Amino acid sequence: MPGAESPVVLICRRLLPAGRERLAARCEIREGGLDATADGLLALAPGANAIVADPTVPVGEELLEAAGEGVRVVANYAVGYDNVDVDACRSRGIAVTNTPGVLTNATAELALALTLAAARRINEAEDDLRGGRWRGWDPGDLLGLELSAATFGIVGMGRIGRRYAELIAPLAETIVYASPSAKPDVERQLGAEQVPMTELLARADVVSLHVPATPETVGLIGASELEAMRAHAVLVNTARGSLVDADALARALRDGSIGAAGLDVYANEPEVPRALLEAPRCVLLPHIGSATTRAREAMAALVADNVLAALDGAEPPNRVA
Ligand code: DGY
Repeated sequence: MPGAESPVVLICRRLLPAGRERLAARCEIREGGLDATADGLLALAPGANAIVADPTVPVGEELLEAAGEGVRVVANYAVGYDNVDVDACRSRGIAVTNTPGVLTNATAELALALTLAAARRINEAEDDLRGGRWRGWDPGDLLGLELSAATFGIVGMGRIGRRYAELIAPLAETIVYASPSAKPDVERQLGAEQVPMTELLARADVVSLHVPATPETVGLIGASELEAMRAHAVLVNTARGSLVDADALARALRDGSIGAAGLDVYANEPEVPRALLEAPRCVLLPHIGSATTRAREAMAALVADNVLAALDGAEPPNRVA
């Protein structure tokens, strides 16, 4: 049972029991809950020794300052950690951790689902049916893109990009990828070819993004990149919303300069840009890339591993800074 001397863990929003129960056995838990506000978190922060954040919780100077000098770790409940001001943590000697590996399958599978849904206009088709607009089999209605023998362009060949490549390989005629470093094992295994981003955009029938949000990748897909894509091409984003210029994408969909898009992430979640809500041929999901029971529980367990290691003065297993 945690006592008066127990370390304090601020769970900014919600941590599934696979992690929360292990923390609660040893620590005092303060929880912001799903509706936590920035002010609410500032009020809960003083005296925290660990902060558990997630992609919707910005962790910056203000929260760290409010927490005080006892913070040893910011454990992000996600593999991406662009919501955490890593420099601010580093300058205070606070470790930053994430949850890699355990959500690779879930996220790559969702990218595949979005690829198929966007290419075959599944949301529009279902909306028509549910809305009573289906008038029977129509040879010219809801025509989509056939993916067998397609060229897939994968931007980022880390764990998730690679798993996506494995999943689409049975469909793909060609897999091209853009990455700062060559991946000879993926090239051997799947026949993938590393190409410059400009070539990938020009050749791919499907462009799927699998890079983290960093100063180099924010705005990676803007008006000129969309212009460079094939008119029937599908853009899939399960990485981070800030990689794509949402207004430019909505315009490209409206003008028909790309074929379709499947998105799971947005720059200012949970806000979804109106332009995207109104854009045609666009499948929009609410950031559920890692939302399988298996992945989310394993992520929660990794959060607990990292917090407990840091509180014990050991090296957290998934330290990124
Ligand atoms: C991550 O882990 O970064 C995912 O986006 C969370 O679903």
